[in-house]
Amino acid sequence: MTRVAVQDFDRQVDLLIRARYSAIYVVTFEEDRLADMLYAIAKKQGKKLYVWSSHSGLLRYQKDKRQSESEPQHCSPKEVLKEIHRRHDSALFLLRDFNPYFEDPTIARQFRDLASELKSTYKTLIISAATMDFPVALEKDLTVLDLPLPTAAELRELLRSICVELDRSSQDSVRINKNDMEALVRAAQGLTLSEAENAFAKAAVHEGVLTSKDVDIVQNEKQQIIRKSGMLEFHPPDTTLADVGGLDSLKRWLARRGKAWHPDAHQFGLPEPKGMLLLGVPGCGKSLTARAVAQYWGVPLLHLDLGRVFTSMLGSSEENMRRALAIAEGIAPAVLWIDEIEKGIGGSGKGEHDGGTSSRVFGTLLTWMQERKAPVFVCATANRIDDLPPELLRRGRFDEIFFVDLPDSRSREEILSIHLSKRKRNPKNFNLTDLAELSQNFSGAELEHCVVESLFAAFEEERDLEDTDLAQAMAEVTPLAVTSAEDITRLRNWAQKRTRSADYPGPLGKKENPRG
Ligand SMILES: Nc1ncnc2c1ncn2[C@@H]1O[C@H](COP(=O)(O)OP(=O)(O)OP(=O)(O)O)[C@@H](O)[C@H]1O
Ligand SMILES: [Mg+2]
Repeated sequence: MTRVAVQDFDRQVDLLIRARYSAIYVVTFEEDRLADMLYAIAKKQGKKLYVWSSHSGLLRYQKDKRQSESEPQHCSPKEVLKEIHRRHDSALFLLRDFNPYFEDPTIARQFRDLASELKSTYKTLIISAATMDFPVALEKDLTVLDLPLPTAAELRELLRSICVELDRSSQDSVRINKNDMEALVRAAQGLTLSEAENAFAKAAVHEGVLTSKDVDIVQNEKQQIIRKSGMLEFHPPDTTLADVGGLDSLKRWLARRGKAWHPDAHQFGLPEPKGMLLLGVPGCGKSLTARAVAQYWGVPLLHLDLGRVFTSMLGSSEENMRRALAIAEGIAPAVLWIDEIEKGIGGSGKGEHDGGTSSRVFGTLLTWMQERKAPVFVCATANRIDDLPPELLRRGRFDEIFFVDLPDSRSREEILSIHLSKRKRNPKNFNLTDLAELSQNFSGAELEHCVVESLFAAFEEERDLEDTDLAQAMAEVTPLAVTSAEDITRLRNWAQKRTRSADYPGPLGKKENPRG
């Protein structure tokens, strides 16, 4: 069984058919779009397309024409396979939702025999289903493909046809220029064709005219549809790199990598940024940075909730993962944020307890990370090395693995300054150097905590915040670095050989000018 996620789906199917692959299994929610694509391929190859479903039987597919309303024929799975065997024409046979019938061993056998026989004919079987679900015995007979979500070109084509339609029905109902058009297309990326059609239609109905303002409507519609999928969510752009103190080396890296998104970069020979793994001490800004990256690069931020991928309510975990990744590709360029990746997947021996589900889901993610074509930058965070599967750390999965350590004294000054400013205090009024000295081994989260606590103290005494309040709050904190000293030392030792410092240029352990 070959499994490929393809950008150039048309070309792949075309090639497989020409190479006389006799049975192709396409995973998609978009039956109509698939039928239209197959119709175009069949036409190009001088073949016919027939579509079967248990309800309407076997029918010749004719684009933009209503199906004839004659009595349905060859409805049962047995009959349709027999009928395909009998036919002599060169044709593609699209069988919709055929997979449940494979449960019946006689049908599975009949199907395999037919698939084998068709190899020497010009007939091809194509099964479409929303999930990849068939008996192991058929793995060798089926080539599985994913139909990716529509490309910008397909969405543009759809929008154009909607505009023509609108224009025809009432004059002046379309008031968009080329840029608005692109913005609308962009807003719809990540949706299926029919979802996009609905979103565009909704936008057009709103105030009876399609304008640049409707980009928001389409964008909102998309957010809701994606939220319904359960595992992915658009994260609002609420954080910038200016909110992150320290981590200079990581910031510099991001500035440089960000340029690789530019179209010229590809021309220049740069690969697209793949992703980064931020590993490190709790509360030091991993999640914070992950959230800031998208905003910094001006692309949408998608949060993948790994916990929810495993929710059986949503369907099979593997399928959920694949769907989430397909949506992310549809929305690309984008940042895909996977927080605490070790908790969701991997985990030493986890796979043994859940029948291998978590390792399969993880495999799906790893394969995708290796093969994806669309510019989706994966920003993963982790703080437990024991649970990190070694495959994840292998070269090539991420562009870089950064170690986020406790902030040094200069970074602590910066972090204090950020959190004071956020709470309407001028950092210049505080002796940050001394305060940084008093907060050795504090994490960013602990520094923030001190700022908040000291504000409470000052407010209680009905005066403004002073250095002493901060010093007092700091004296009351026992940092995690002290309570979990062993864990942190172990983490550091581990990271030394395998990661790059987020603070200092060069490999970990060879700190240039260590501060703090
Ligand atoms: N470098 C930093 N600069 C500014 N604020 C920080 C920094 N590090 C942590 N903080 C503050 O602490 C909060 C928690 O940090 P964050 O969630 O990014 O930690 P984390 O590294 O993801 O920790 P965990 O491993 O526990 O998930 C942030 O929302 C921020 O307010
Ligand atoms: Mg975190």
